[in-house]
Amino acid sequence: MTKETHTNCSFCGKNKDSVKNLIVGEYAGICNECVDFCQDLLKDETPVVEIAPQPSDKMDPMVLKKYLDQYVIGQHSAKIMLAVAIVNHYKRISKTTAEPELDKANILMLGPTGSGKTLLAKSVARYLDVPFAIADATSITEAGYVGDDVESLISRLYAASGNDIAKTQRGIVFVDEIDKISRKGESTSITRDVSGEGVQQALLKMVEGTICRVSAAGGRKHPGGDMIEIDTKNILFIAGGAFVGLDSIVKNRVQGTSIGFNARVEASIDTDLDMTTPDDLVKFGMIPEFVGRFPNWVSLRELSKADLIRILTVKNNYIQQYHWLFKEDGVELEFTESALDLIAERTLSNKTGARGLHSEIERTLIPHMFNLRRYSGMGIKVVKIEPSMVLTPAALDGTD
Ligand SMILES: Nc1ncnc2c1ncn2[C@@H]1O[C@H](COP(=O)(O)OP(=O)(O)OP(=O)(O)O)[C@@H](O)[C@H]1O
Ligand SMILES: [Mg+2]
Repeated sequence: MTKETHTNCSFCGKNKDSVKNLIVGEYAGICNECVDFCQDLLKDETPVVEIAPQPSDKMDPMVLKKYLDQYVIGQHSAKIMLAVAIVNHYKRISKTTAEPELDKANILMLGPTGSGKTLLAKSVARYLDVPFAIADATSITEAGYVGDDVESLISRLYAASGNDIAKTQRGIVFVDEIDKISRKGESTSITRDVSGEGVQQALLKMVEGTICRVSAAGGRKHPGGDMIEIDTKNILFIAGGAFVGLDSIVKNRVQGTSIGFNARVEASIDTDLDMTTPDDLVKFGMIPEFVGRFPNWVSLRELSKADLIRILTVKNNYIQQYHWLFKEDGVELEFTESALDLIAERTLSNKTGARGLHSEIERTLIPHMFNLRRYSGMGIKVVKIEPSMVLTPAALDGTD
């Protein structure tokens, strides 16, 4: 490494002019914001965790939680619940003795859209370095109907493992949008002829453990092609869903039971998805046998404004990605703190979770990205996003 004069933070890339302090050493520089961030990381009493933990540490839920903290903001209790469930699952399937017999405990993740369910599941699979497949429950149909049958979940996992049977049998299948296959009430759309209940039924065996036949070449079944058998007994199924409306089922139940002894408390009772019972899920439309096969529940909360701001500004964040895009055309992109605040505020009111951040930023930056090539010719070296630019993005310049 060569000695040089540093004018930018070696961690976030910000220029010394756009931060309060830049501490410069012989080989690197660090800005006050990154120092603060690192201090937050170190504040925790738990030991500092390496990004790639040693295999022997891997089965410690605390280490897994720390790993998840690097990618998933907030959701503290969900990360703890998930870490414990995951570690227990892999302990169970690594058991070398016949006794005691241990039941598989699949995981159900409940939480609002954009709160990090899929991100959590993906991060866990990366941590464990096991094959991971995601499928949408709405794309699965009962056997005999046109569409993907439940075996397609295992085919995908098999493909993700590089067609390795042993690896497939220890993998994770994430079934998203599980709430969309709830038993339909009177309001059922008639455009879908396959009932959600039938799909839940079809999933039961696979989730519990069965021998599943899939094409040895991967992909869809080829009539007459070689088939291999995959035992799903040790495959972990994580089902995720937003379960819109479940909160009112929980609330009605809790308030209903409170009326008997103190009707006045009724209005002030605070409920959340943590209080969900199996009965609530059955009322929502999940069949009891299905609920019974997912004994581990992880509930996520709506992200707060502070969480959204952190998502905007920490590692792998959206802003850094746009920063890079602007930099390609020689323009620095900056956001004032109040602009970030406003973006988070607007996202919060849109109820789209962290997913909404992306569209808010995109909407704000499109006029600038459209003109980016001309900025350097005009001597514009820095675009600084102020709150007014978030509310009313510069008018799109272009007449048809
Ligand atoms: N807690 C979080 N921390 C960091 N990023 C997050 C978090 N939650 C969501 N995101 C980001 O928001 C986007 C959507 O997240 P994700 O797909 O995990 O949501 P979801 O809960 O699965 O939503 P849906 O119910 O709509 O499937 C992703 O880009 C993800 O990186
Ligand atoms: Mg999702």
